[in-house]
Amino acid sequence: MRTEAAELVFDEATKVYPGRESAAVDHLSLTVPAGEICVLVGPSGGGKTTALKLVNRLIPLTSGDIRIDGTSILEQDVVELRRSIGYVIQQVGLFPHMTVEGNIGTVPRLYRRPRSWIKARSAELLELVGLDPSYAKRFPAQLSGGERQRVGLARALAANPPLMLMDEPFGAIDPIVRARLQDEFLRLQKEIRKTVVFVTHDVDEAIKVGDRIAILREGGRLAQYDTPQQILEHPADEFVAEFVGRDRALKALALRTLGELELSPATEDGLPRLPADTSLRDALALLVAERRNALLVIGADGAPLGVATREDLLA
Ligand SMILES: Nc1ncnc2c1ncn2[C@@H]1O[C@H](COP(=O)(O)OP(=O)(O)OP(=O)(O)O)[C@@H](O)[C@H]1O
Ligand SMILES: [Mg+2]
Repeated sequence: MRTEAAELVFDEATKVYPGRESAAVDHLSLTVPAGEICVLVGPSGGGKTTALKLVNRLIPLTSGDIRIDGTSILEQDVVELRRSIGYVIQQVGLFPHMTVEGNIGTVPRLYRRPRSWIKARSAELLELVGLDPSYAKRFPAQLSGGERQRVGLARALAANPPLMLMDEPFGAIDPIVRARLQDEFLRLQKEIRKTVVFVTHDVDEAIKVGDRIAILREGGRLAQYDTPQQILEHPADEFVAEFVGRDRALKALALRTLGELELSPATEDGLPRLPADTSLRDALALLVAERRNALLVIGADGAPLGVATREDLLA
């Protein structure tokens, strides 16, 4: 088993389903650097799931190539290939007749790992995704939707794959649990540094979790591939601008913090105080709510760093 993160390259990858005139994925070219999260977003039917399934060869490429650490997927044994890729499918897809531990152990069992190893690995992964070890003996029907999605994530991580494909892993979950799962996933990613392709419908989720975002338009054509900041501040065209939303300027504010501003010296007393790691969006919300024009930025040690005005936030 390889364990390090792998670079993933789509090279003019194209899929035309049999009997269909137009492509589902059309000459898709992009590189996901090792250890980064690439989020695929786009309209329903835009080819996101198809793009993922091409990578682990659940469906064959019509033309073009996909390479993992420089090796074409076509040159790899398909069984080995799939085992080396963690796959979280749309709607989780846990095996209902197996316990949580049984589900997590699916791939390690294929590698003939001993029972004790699987038990220990399962306990470790449950902890990693924030579930109590006692969940190991439960069945999927005895879990909430959010818990099932965590087990799905733990199962995909079980063989420590260098590459993870995640198809709307947090779809169909209420916004609060969803935000928590996103936070946990980002914390986890800091530790394990996988290369991840993450599909979502939700632009805000894409901005939050993506190191880079690939926006697919209808017909599986790449509209833009860039950092969240670049996409929000410099959308490539009308389609991208429309897709990320009219409030993209506000969304962009969420990506910057007070600490990144050039502050002026503190002269006024009684200003609202906010830590330097507060996002500009949250800072602006506070100024609007409190009908103030300026705030005092404070460092981690509580010492004042300087003053930021509304104009500074919006510049
Ligand atoms: N097995 C198939 N045979 C023929 N056409 C298919 C098949 N699977 C998907 N398609 C078509 O390919 C296109 C892309 O589908 P895909 O599932 O990749 O979209 P998606 O971006 O994942 O959509 P969603 O956001 O709704 O999940 C759609 O037009 C779909 O109807
Ligand atoms: Mg899909």
